[in-house]
Amino acid sequence: MERQVFDAIRNRRSIREFTGQPVARDLLQQIITAGIWAPSGLNNQPWRFVIIRDHEINAKLASLTHYAHIVQAAPALIAVYLDQKKMYDPVKDHQAAGACIQNMLLAAHELGLGAVWLGQILKNRDRVNDVLQLSDQFDLMALLALGYPKHRNQQSRRQPLTDFILHEFGGDTP
Ligand SMILES: Cc1cc2nc3c(=O)[nH]c(=O)nc-3n(C[C@H](O)[C@H](O)[C@H](O)COP(=O)(O)O)c2cc1C
Repeated sequence: MERQVFDAIRNRRSIREFTGQPVARDLLQQIITAGIWAPSGLNNQPWRFVIIRDHEINAKLASLTHYAHIVQAAPALIAVYLDQKKMYDPVKDHQAAGACIQNMLLAAHELGLGAVWLGQILKNRDRVNDVLQLSDQFDLMALLALGYPKHRNQQSRRQPLTDFILHEFGGDTP
């Protein structure tokens, strides 16, 4: 049995080093399409995106994060926002943004691209909005750095499954 979704979930890694190869607009649109097919409460689709393939903008955004080297060198960036005018419940809308971003990371992986979810830049979210010419109607959720991976030897670890399961009720069947 093919397990493409599970394999993508398991094998996706955060990619922080890219070749200089540009990323085609069509691929970025496919990645955003994966994002917008995430579930959202009441199907309100509160996400919005800014696509960046402009070295000058990269440089301005790089100055706003500890991860400047990643942002500076990324052939493409996608800023993921919540549109506050579309939101109806803060917790649920933020959960939807997370689902959207994870879909995007998995789509990038399937397309042979690498990506990393950058959150540290959120401490300068207001200045990011200035650079991207957006009002405070739009609340930055993440900056995704994307490109073709320089290598694929990234390692990541998870604690054992049993660490996470608080209780299991029932269980008369396997
Ligand atoms: C909310 C969030 C914020 C993150 N912020 C950063 C970041 O600012 N810089 C960075 O290099 N990685 C960032 N990451 C990536 C995590 O470090 C990475 O997902 C984690 O170490 C697990 O590695 P993996 O994605 O390869 O499985 C962030 C991930 C999430 C979900």
